[in-house]
Amino acid sequence: MKLKIIIPLLFTIHSLTAKAQAQQAADDGKLIFEKKCTRCHGYDGTKGYLGAKNLRKSRLDDDGLFATITNGRWIMPSWKRKLTPQQIHAVVAYIKTLRN
Ligand code: HEC
Repeated sequence: MKLKIIIPLLFTIHSLTAKAQAQQAADDGKLIFEKKCTRCHGYDGTKGYLGAKNLRKSRLDDDGLFATITNGRWIMPSWKRKLTPQQIHAVVAYIKTLRN
């Protein structure tokens, strides 16, 4: 019974390279971003509605991004009840791809 779960799991872990995982996270993050964040930040991160920071110019590191999204800041809402930590990591991976 357990093997039925473990074997496909090992196979999945084995077949994903770190790069593919990062790509997958960025793809998931894109969906979340487009659903939850574009209203203020816009599709390219530059909309600036209600003073939203330009995400293309943001230089926060992963921890800073994670903390800001989790806890919110000023007008920006906290996402900790609406997104799982994995989803927040995925959004972090995606918004870094918007940077120039
Ligand atoms: C209601 C509008 C609103 C929504 C929705 C929103 N934000 Fe923001 N966001 C803001 C505002 C306003 C700031 C600037 C806060 C400040 O600096 O005082 C901000 C700042 C940020 C920052 C900090 C950037 C920096 O360099 O300081 C990040 C990262 C960020 N938002 C990501 C997100 C993500 C990801 C989502 C979706 C899960 C999201 N935001 C949804 C309004 C919003």
